[in-house]
Amino acid sequence: MGEKIPQAFIDDLIARTDIVELINSRISLRKAGRQYVACCPFHSEKTPSFTVSLQKQFYYCFGCGVHGTAISFLMAFDHLNFVEAIEELAQQAGMVVPRESNQLPDTSHRKLYEVLSFAADFYHQQLKVNVNQNQGRIKAYLRERGLSRSIVAEFKLGFAPSRWDILLSNTQLSLRPYLKEAGLVIDRDSGHCYDRFRGRLIFPIHDYRGQVIGFGGRLLGGEGSPKYLNSPETSLFHKRRELYGLYQVRKSIRNYEKILVVEGYMDVLSLAQHKIRYVVATLGTATTSEQLTRLFQMTSQVIFCFDGDRAGQEAAWRALETALPLLKQGRQVQFMFLPTGEDPDTLIRAEGQVAFESRLEKAVPLSEVLLNGLQRKVKLDNIDGRVHLIELARPFIAKIPSGVYQDMLFSRLAEIAQIGQVSLARYLRKSEIPRQQLNCAIDMDSPVQKMIAILLQHPNLIHIIEDSFSLQGLKGVELQLLQSLITLLRSNPYLNTASLLEHWKESKMGQQLRQLAIRELFLTDNDMILELKAAIACLQAQAADDRMEVLSNRPVLTAEEQQELLILLAAKQSNKHIL
Ligand code: UTP
Ligand code: MN
Repeated sequence: MGEKIPQAFIDDLIARTDIVELINSRISLRKAGRQYVACCPFHSEKTPSFTVSLQKQFYYCFGCGVHGTAISFLMAFDHLNFVEAIEELAQQAGMVVPRESNQLPDTSHRKLYEVLSFAADFYHQQLKVNVNQNQGRIKAYLRERGLSRSIVAEFKLGFAPSRWDILLSNTQLSLRPYLKEAGLVIDRDSGHCYDRFRGRLIFPIHDYRGQVIGFGGRLLGGEGSPKYLNSPETSLFHKRRELYGLYQVRKSIRNYEKILVVEGYMDVLSLAQHKIRYVVATLGTATTSEQLTRLFQMTSQVIFCFDGDRAGQEAAWRALETALPLLKQGRQVQFMFLPTGEDPDTLIRAEGQVAFESRLEKAVPLSEVLLNGLQRKVKLDNIDGRVHLIELARPFIAKIPSGVYQDMLFSRLAEIAQIGQVSLARYLRKSEIPRQQLNCAIDMDSPVQKMIAILLQHPNLIHIIEDSFSLQGLKGVELQLLQSLITLLRSNPYLNTASLLEHWKESKMGQQLRQLAIRELFLTDNDMILELKAAIACLQAQAADDRMEVLSNRPVLTAEEQQELLILLAAKQSNKHIL
């Protein structure tokens, strides 16, 4: 006992669980509008009042009031305790529940970094030994894949021999307790451990600072499965946050004009081998907004590289949806589609650097991929089709922060739909539902409550809140909750409603948050952003007022304070004019 399941794991688990699928496998759900409904399994009724929201990953019964996340559903329906419910979900998601065991003398991250770095050195050493022994296997494989010594050294590729405990038995005793938490060994039922990586070429995964945080391992040769085995999620390694090759990009280039995102470890290596150094790979998942945010901190141009086939098109669409909210001024997202059957590795080896980079020059801008994708769904030769196109485009345009990019997309849409820009603007505005009618469902008079409710239900809108936004100086009970919510989302922007609720499950705030999650906001995507911005402005004004009051009540002011007061007064004055 005394074992705690790490919160990061619970977050990840909820992110991978689909509550609709889960509940539907136990009671049959029917789609009704944006929700799924069924007769409530927790009280007896004839007409359905049990609802499940895909977007919030949350269920609620209008009849008896039960509500909760995938975890609480399993607890109630399958009669499991919390840990058992987690185990059940993990099993369905193919994940192993990590434990932060209290018995370890020291679970500090330092030890984990140490054991990971040791493992990387060890595997690298094994590779060198194997290559030098000249028995051929690794050497031949590296040659076949076209990887030179210097690339092998730079990315510190390694080799895990086909033995059950070579890493384990070579790890010094004091570090052994950390091997499991680092994801390097697997626990056998009997309490004995064995190496996770066996008979594989090893790709160490570095964080942006160059510390090893995990590994990928590829089978040598063609058959067997899985082809790639990766480290599990650990307290240091989060697949959805990290990018393979990011550290090497940072190290080798000073000025990143653009960064190319590919799918495989081998693609990164092979492109680097051909002097294309501005490349990173996702780690077997779709690109997340956290990864994109990180890339945009380094460059203004991100190019995604996908297969030209249908799966590639779909993956591109997903990346596009993730990118939309991040398209601030000056940022660009483009897509490069490869000929079917090729990946960047095969292509660059066939064509070389120059040809590959000239393909890159022809990458398609996001706006074009978006509008082309939507146009494919409608017929533009009649009015109905063109109206349909505008309707389809509406939610996408709403996701883009207002600015030049949104304007340009807007005018391009007007062009394609053959409608004047003014009429298009009027049209889009008119079909929005009138504001007053909407706001009654939640106490929209309280900017704090409003912000909490919106962020809770649409956590991805965290990007609307500027880094400089601060609640300092304001007083009120819910402020603390709002502050914690913002802090949490800033460091984990991919959390959904359900995982947020799980974060506060134990506290008094949990109940309050669940109530806010239940309430229907009745806002269009666009209004949601406007409301959020309005609440921010309101809080900022309030903070300024409070500060002014503090200053005005002081008997003596320093020169700086006088200056501050003048600025605050001037700002207030000019705000009045605008209002
Ligand atoms: P691919 O199957 O496209 O592999 O997987 P690849 O990069 O072309 O590798 P080679 O050329 O066959 O060696 C792309 C990425 O998907 C993840 C890995 O991150 C891989 O780099 N993947 C793939 C897995 O995690 N597990 C797998 O079994 C396969
Ligand atoms: Mn490949």
